[in-house]
Amino acid sequence: MKRLETVDALREWVGTARAAGRRIAFVPTMGALHEGHLALVDEARRRASRVVLSVFVNPLQFGPTEDYRQYPRNLIRDEALAAERGVDALYAPDVSVMYPPGSEVRVVPGPTASRWEGAVRPGHFEGVLTVVAKLFHQVMPDLAIFGQKDIQQLTLIRRMLADLDWPIEVVMVPTVRESDGLALSSRNAYLDPGDRIRARGLSAGLFAARDAWRAGERSAERLRALVAEQLEAVGGVAPEYIAVVEPEGLVPVEMAVAGTIVAVAARLGSTRLIDNVILEPAAGRS
Ligand code: PAJ
Repeated sequence: MKRLETVDALREWVGTARAAGRRIAFVPTMGALHEGHLALVDEARRRASRVVLSVFVNPLQFGPTEDYRQYPRNLIRDEALAAERGVDALYAPDVSVMYPPGSEVRVVPGPTASRWEGAVRPGHFEGVLTVVAKLFHQVMPDLAIFGQKDIQQLTLIRRMLADLDWPIEVVMVPTVRESDGLALSSRNAYLDPGDRIRARGLSAGLFAARDAWRAGERSAERLRALVAEQLEAVGGVAPEYIAVVEPEGLVPVEMAVAGTIVAVAARLGSTRLIDNVILEPAAGRS
């Protein structure tokens, strides 16, 4: 596995791969790699003959009171995991490479970014889209792989590509979970043992909503209530939001249909967790 730290070195590596006719898949991450990230690498390998993984903790997407400084960083471990999983190039630029002095242009998302995560984290998605746009320009991949776990991020990246006529294919990988249902996240490491147990309330709530959907429930309000009940049942976890929304602009719906997303965010201690499910087409019906 090649380790790259500058835009020039990356471009040279990608140029050689492209000249050899390789299809290039790109997996952007902030490191502290876990099985969720590695599932994206697996998908990348299935779909392309070269895989570039980036590790960059992007200061632009953290709010002033968020965990940019504490965010877990372990490049040596990440490098070993990436190599073991078959990544061809690990791109780990320094902040000064991504944002040299004087850089000031940003990618400004539309109203889809001001709902849900964006309402709680103002400026977050502007930071995400700016860094993802830069990374896309640097890597120039054929396809890019993102996790369902951060579904609003994925939705906004798709929106950016469509709105800017940018021909990169986006592939979504389903959320990888712990055995009790908790979605893997680098931030799970912050949870104390009590909160770690309560954290299963998020997925328990989403699974309850999904089970009810499978059993024929269509009312968004009742699906929301089921999520809320589960959060309450694990010990009074207060949700920041429970959203039952359509997949294009993440606007709330009254009645769920196949493709409707149920998303939740909750704070446990000082840690924010998010999760979601996508309601699938009813089995056996058309
Ligand atoms: P990060 O949180 O490191 O996540 C990188 C990718 O891994 C994202 O596409 C995310 O959705 C995916 N991912 C995280 N946990 C997952 C899980 N349990 N199952 C499946 N996929 C999972 O998202 C970011 O970094 C940043 O915002 C980034 C896009 C890199 C821009 O800075």
